[in-house]
Amino acid sequence: AKSQAWSALFSEPMSELVKRYTASVFFDRRLWQADIQGSLAHAEMLAAQGIISAQDWADIQRGMAQIRAEIESGQFEWKLDLEDVHLNIEARLTQLVGDAGKRLHTGRSRNDQVATDVRLWLRDEIDAIATLLRELQAALVEVAARHVDVILPGFTHLQVAQPVSFAHHLLAYVEMFARDEERLADVRRRTNRLPLGSAALAGTTYPLDRARVARTLGMVDERGEPQLCLNSLDAVSDRDFAIEFSAAAALIMVHVSRLSEELILWMSQNFGFIRIADRFTTGSSIMPQKKNPDVPELARGKTGRVVGHLMGLLTLMKGQPLAYNKDNQEDKEPLFDTVDTLKDTLRIFTDMIGGERDPATGQRSGGLTVNREAMEAAARRGYATATDLADYLVKKGVPFRDAHETVAHAVKAATSHACDLSELPLAVLQGFHPLIEKDVYDVLSLRGSLQARNTLGGTAPAQVQAQIERHRARLAPL
Ligand code: ARG
Repeated sequence: AKSQAWSALFSEPMSELVKRYTASVFFDRRLWQADIQGSLAHAEMLAAQGIISAQDWADIQRGMAQIRAEIESGQFEWKLDLEDVHLNIEARLTQLVGDAGKRLHTGRSRNDQVATDVRLWLRDEIDAIATLLRELQAALVEVAARHVDVILPGFTHLQVAQPVSFAHHLLAYVEMFARDEERLADVRRRTNRLPLGSAALAGTTYPLDRARVARTLGMVDERGEPQLCLNSLDAVSDRDFAIEFSAAAALIMVHVSRLSEELILWMSQNFGFIRIADRFTTGSSIMPQKKNPDVPELARGKTGRVVGHLMGLLTLMKGQPLAYNKDNQEDKEPLFDTVDTLKDTLRIFTDMIGGERDPATGQRSGGLTVNREAMEAAARRGYATATDLADYLVKKGVPFRDAHETVAHAVKAATSHACDLSELPLAVLQGFHPLIEKDVYDVLSLRGSLQARNTLGGTAPAQVQAQIERHRARLAPL
């Protein structure tokens, strides 16, 4: 029996090495559902257009139903000789239903077929990732809601800068992930467009109804308008939707990686700000006291591979002339690994931060544990309220630059007494500036400092609470 889709012309078989080198079935079989979905939409349209018979269409449906069952039950025999997922499924279809199977490929090429499959598969993965991203945001928002009045030092240059609410700090990540969600929605629009009908590269001679196929596959915009790739050369060779997705994924991982870095710092003995549950840590084979933050460290590490995949895809595309080239087969493994890595990372972070969800009640428990005393003690070291003292003087009429200089002297004095600004006696403070009065201690307190930053987007508890409510409304019904 003929084992290749083009064998008549060839005078010698492929060597085993070349077969293995060119085959993709051992990774692209992952696209089988999209491949069947795309084939059924194509065949339905061929029948509706009178290009194949109603009987052919019925046979194709029957054959595909059996193939689906075989793949799901693990019975399907994937063959390296048949190169890829497309030829494997088509060959089995023909084995099962005869000529109808051979008619399926009418007006179609593997070039528009594979482009369609990857888009369908990725569209559904984008939806799954968007949901996971929303769950992570919701977990962060709920931890934030419990810690609005917990104060830690905010850093610049990793030097103590000004006190901030721990909730405010967590909500900074929620903002990043919210933008990531927007980016995914944007990528989804450009992913959800139909290449089928472009055939190998130039279009096809059959009277295909491309819009019908697009509607069947849900490749429509918000108004239900079918979304079609409108240049056949571009349709079969474009992978920029995959590159864009990888860029969005890399950025999500970069955000996770920054959070990881903070979690790792915060749980080191020198900070002692938080604990993560034991199930996210590992011990040491030599040092009995150790609990290592393996999960955030691995997330930080895995960011490298996702960023690497983006570089891989960009490089894959840069030298390709129009239209389809086999290079594009190399788009799949980086894309698959990006999706797997990202989904696992988002799931594990949601559990690690928010706790695991009880399926019965929907409540999460066992997430991040916060040591508020350690955070506040750290905020009291390092003169985090020095800016507040300068602002206090400015409000009494002192020009900001002079106030800045005055406070620098006060910080120097407090440093040499090894105490906080708020621990300097009033008489000492007045020695730095006569306008200083007893009410200065209100602004020198951590809580006073927070309260005072009541601008939109600032760390004052009222502002933070308002942001929590905004995020809750945005993330409902999670
Ligand atoms: N396995 C191929 C890919 O992933 C399918 C398309 C092959 N088309 C071709 N003309 N060789 O890109």
